[in-house]
Amino acid sequence: MSKSQISKVGIIGSGTMGIGIAQVATTSGCDVFLYDANSWQTEKSLLGLKSTLNKLVEKQKIAQEKADEIFGKIKFCTEISELKDCDLVIEAIIENADIKKKVFAELESFVSENCIISSNTSSISITSLSADLKKPERFIGIHFFNPAPLMPLVEVIPGLLTKEDLAKEIYDLMKSWGKVPVIAKDIPGFIVNRIARPFYGEALRIAEENIATPEQIDDAMRTLGNFRMGPFELMDLIGIDVNFAVTTTVYKDYFYDAKYKPSLLQQRMAEAKLLGRKTGKGFYDYSENGQKPIPEKDENLYQQIFMRIISMLINEAVEAKRLKIASDEDIELAMQKGVNYPKGLLSWGKEIGYQKVSEMLQNLYEEYQEERYRQSPLLRKL
Ligand SMILES: NC(=O)c1ccc[n+]([C@@H]2O[C@H](COP(=O)([O-])OP(=O)(O)OC[C@H]3O[C@@H](n4cnc5c(N)ncnc54)[C@H](O)[C@@H]3O)[C@@H](O)[C@H]2O)c1
Repeated sequence: MSKSQISKVGIIGSGTMGIGIAQVATTSGCDVFLYDANSWQTEKSLLGLKSTLNKLVEKQKIAQEKADEIFGKIKFCTEISELKDCDLVIEAIIENADIKKKVFAELESFVSENCIISSNTSSISITSLSADLKKPERFIGIHFFNPAPLMPLVEVIPGLLTKEDLAKEIYDLMKSWGKVPVIAKDIPGFIVNRIARPFYGEALRIAEENIATPEQIDDAMRTLGNFRMGPFELMDLIGIDVNFAVTTTVYKDYFYDAKYKPSLLQQRMAEAKLLGRKTGKGFYDYSENGQKPIPEKDENLYQQIFMRIISMLINEAVEAKRLKIASDEDIELAMQKGVNYPKGLLSWGKEIGYQKVSEMLQNLYEEYQEERYRQSPLLRKL
């Protein structure tokens, strides 16, 4: 099937990602069949989309006709079987392998032989998700970033059983949808979610150790690193549960590598359902009267926070380069177009000085005596 033949797109899960992907697909002219196990979620998401589109019209970013067209192309499905005629199905439900596999098995019982089945999973192995399908060769990872209509990057991830030409076909389709696709290897966290782990993990650790508050850490990363959002602001946007699930999966799938060890603080937040913006409260309070605490500025502390987190990130990018997880260009592009980093991490490492980065990690390693601060063998050679 060529990209031009993909006109009916099924989306399973109408939460944060599903509704965003629906907007991307209908903006490109596709008809979307949107299904969620909780129909109230679809109703809520459609209301949200309507208000987003209204704002775009008010700001004269799109015409009223285009807004109506985008909205009108989404069919609200109350039964999953209504996706039976789709050319492509993108799953965006809860980050749980068993639940996803159940949905794929059901889907395969009624879609056509040629229907492409894909997952928007952030971290679960594409190969494992495809393994029990009758036709695993039609399965592929299509990983959008949050918010899907705004973030250009899409990681296209063929699994071991995916047929050879499918990655190229989806790559072309994503380009035609106005996205910036990169092809990633089916390894835990793919490109972005592997390299970006320390952005959250190290920030959580600094907060857990009472070295700084979340608002100080966010402020340090925004002011010294020019990141558009700090780690805690971003976790609140992504969803604490989703971010925690990704970290846990990456940790387990790298055979419990200490570098990716999840945070207890984040686990408690997820248990308490303080999930961020979607529940109105996470690290920050998003309720009507909620106010963001004003950070107590401290230049030395900010420098220490920034250097600690950026060094961990650069180390991950260097390790990804060493392992050829993607080309150098795609490693740079992925972090900028997927999570809005102001620069590529490899060029950032050069700018700061790889030696300085290596010294920072060595100091942390000596202080904590933990594998978490292990350096990529390539870092010292650069
Ligand atoms: N949030 C992000 O930043 C982000 C970014 C990229 C990828 N992802 C991935 O996208 C997927 C969805 O994440 P999200 O943030 O949109 O989650 P979400 O919690 O906002 O939405 C998930 C939706 O799936 C529905 N659902 C759960 N089980 C279902 C089932 N069996 N059948 C049908 N619907 C079901 C839920 O009702 C919910 O509406 C996950 O795999 C996540 O890892 C998330």
